[in-house]
Amino acid sequence: MDTASAQKRIEALRYELDRHNYLYYVKAQPELSDFEFDQLLKELEALEKEFPQFDDPMSPTRRVGSDITSEFIQVKHRYPVLSLSNTYSEGELRDFDSRIRRETNTTPAYVCELKFDGVSISLNYEKGVLKHAVTRGDGVQGDDVTTNVKTIRSIPLKLQGSGWPDAFEIRGEILMPFDVFNRLNSEREANGETPFANPRNSTAGTIKMQDSAVVASRSLDAYFYYVPGEIRLTDSHFENLEKAAEWGFKVSEHTKKCMGIDQVIEFIRYWDAQRFQLPVATDGVVVKVDSIPLQNDLGTTAKSPRWAVAYKFKAEQVSTRLLSVSYQVGRTGAVTPVANLEPVQLAGTVVKRASLHNADIIEKLDLHINDIVKVEKGGEIIPKIVGVEAESRHPLNAKVQFIETCPECGTPLVRIEGEAAHYCPNEATCPPQIKGKIIHFISRKAMDIDGMGEETVELFFNKGMVKNIADLYRLNPEDIASLERLGDKSAARIIDGLEASKKVPFARVLFALGIRYVGETVAKKLVAAFKNIDHLMEASYEQLIDVNEIGQRIAESILNFFGNSENRFLVDQLRQIGLQFELSDEELEGTSNTLNGLSIIISGTFEKHSRNELKKMIEQHGGKNVGSISKKTSYMLAGENIGPAKLEKVKKLQIPIITEDEFLAMINV
Ligand code: IVH
Repeated sequence: MDTASAQKRIEALRYELDRHNYLYYVKAQPELSDFEFDQLLKELEALEKEFPQFDDPMSPTRRVGSDITSEFIQVKHRYPVLSLSNTYSEGELRDFDSRIRRETNTTPAYVCELKFDGVSISLNYEKGVLKHAVTRGDGVQGDDVTTNVKTIRSIPLKLQGSGWPDAFEIRGEILMPFDVFNRLNSEREANGETPFANPRNSTAGTIKMQDSAVVASRSLDAYFYYVPGEIRLTDSHFENLEKAAEWGFKVSEHTKKCMGIDQVIEFIRYWDAQRFQLPVATDGVVVKVDSIPLQNDLGTTAKSPRWAVAYKFKAEQVSTRLLSVSYQVGRTGAVTPVANLEPVQLAGTVVKRASLHNADIIEKLDLHINDIVKVEKGGEIIPKIVGVEAESRHPLNAKVQFIETCPECGTPLVRIEGEAAHYCPNEATCPPQIKGKIIHFISRKAMDIDGMGEETVELFFNKGMVKNIADLYRLNPEDIASLERLGDKSAARIIDGLEASKKVPFARVLFALGIRYVGETVAKKLVAAFKNIDHLMEASYEQLIDVNEIGQRIAESILNFFGNSENRFLVDQLRQIGLQFELSDEELEGTSNTLNGLSIIISGTFEKHSRNELKKMIEQHGGKNVGSISKKTSYMLAGENIGPAKLEKVKKLQIPIITEDEFLAMINV
């Protein structure tokens, strides 16, 4: 294709993809199948690669993020971000209305909105193009998290339609939908990581991540609810939101204009009950005076506008009886206490169990069996016990004592210094730990063994056919086919699946081993740095923490894992079976140790390679890509358009600057 037609096609594809993103993520009315969408995206990716001169940071291909470590630079908000005053009762809401009517001498229209419970964000557009996405911070300045925010598909990178001011700002809330949150937490538990308490925490954690490719994978969403009054769009907040919706923003369809406080209260009562049906977390209703001239008359206090108020829903609470406490043992051996309750209706579901997290929490609650406990469902998904009615306790109720031995295998439990959880240390023979490890090993993101699932693992384990991961490879088709529910066909599928898994690349094998804290991303980083299992098994603490994003906790867990002779024996067996424990020749191609020990920061935009490619090259040649400048930084790999603050810092610390060509020469490319 010639350059001119390529440019045309690239532009047309970008326009189409933006439009379909909008239809899918904002309007929820897709016109294309996922497959058709992906085809267009792939075509654009290929063209952008072939014609890098038409690179555009706002291209829809950039929504997938990159694993370039980015620093968050603090920027000042053009208009300070205020908070809202809260009320918790209808009475206080009526007082608010009386004050507004008295001060304005009118009966103003109100706009009622859901109060979204996520992370607030301010977006700045210049000439219709997203320039900065800034967190609330302290209200005066926040973190520039633009790279991460660009991965949120319901956020327009370019505004649609017309009529927007050249300098436009809008505020809203970034949220992690409940289904994504639940999926993420199951994954975290499978990796032996602590699950997030609620979607707000996981959103906050995600939006501050260094690796925007991970952010992209987390499917965040965003709703918008406020255009700063200084930006004069229309005279009505409601109409401002309508305009925002026309320009491509997701504005809640449940926003309602209300006449009089009674209608406001009706709205609140409705959503207090219905909010559990929404896909995202809400914690109240925000009531705003619609007229912007009236808003200006009412003004603000130092902290919050006087024309708006947030009515906070009460976390629903009920009392019920604690019947018993049971203990669950997870894949990593962590023991979680669970309260078994007399079933009770709470926030739309019947609650029978509540998480008790750990021994400290049981102790703090001073929990006794048969106690009447208060159960709450707040921002958390799993209900929790928030109190005990000690005064109604029968004197013979027994105090809950945390167990001392594993309920599954009887081994005495241990508690690691500084950690709240108790662990069963019997990794080798404790049934849920073995089953959990095998289930993790065969799972889709690990070895992805066709034909097997949790139930088959359970079956093999209970029949004594599989006692560890290596045993899987010793299964024979006849034995499998002899089991109930499994016939010749399933047996053949499983055997083929196991055979095929011998080609699974090293990074996934390492992830599949189930080392605590070694998730998919960490496994990839380790493999890039150490190339084969022997180097990794022999690595010292210092060598481990020298790898990008490997900290003390992960390093210790790896040393611990390979310090155990059983685990080394397992690796040996798997290696003999034929699993991949080193980078393949293909993966190794183009790697060297030229940059061993060097820390390189990448900054700016480049002519020949994307930042992502450069980062990969650094790692392939043994170097470390760092995200922030320090005395330890060896070089700055500098492209165009580097921020002045960064340059100054590099000069001050006398860090040598190299160009793209100089870098390529260093690694002989
Ligand atoms: S309006 C000047 N509307 O609540 C008014 N805020 O406590 C600006 N929030 O920081 C805020 N839903 O993060 C507004 N519909 C909504 C909201 C909302 C959630 C959050 C926002 C803000 C906090 C204030």
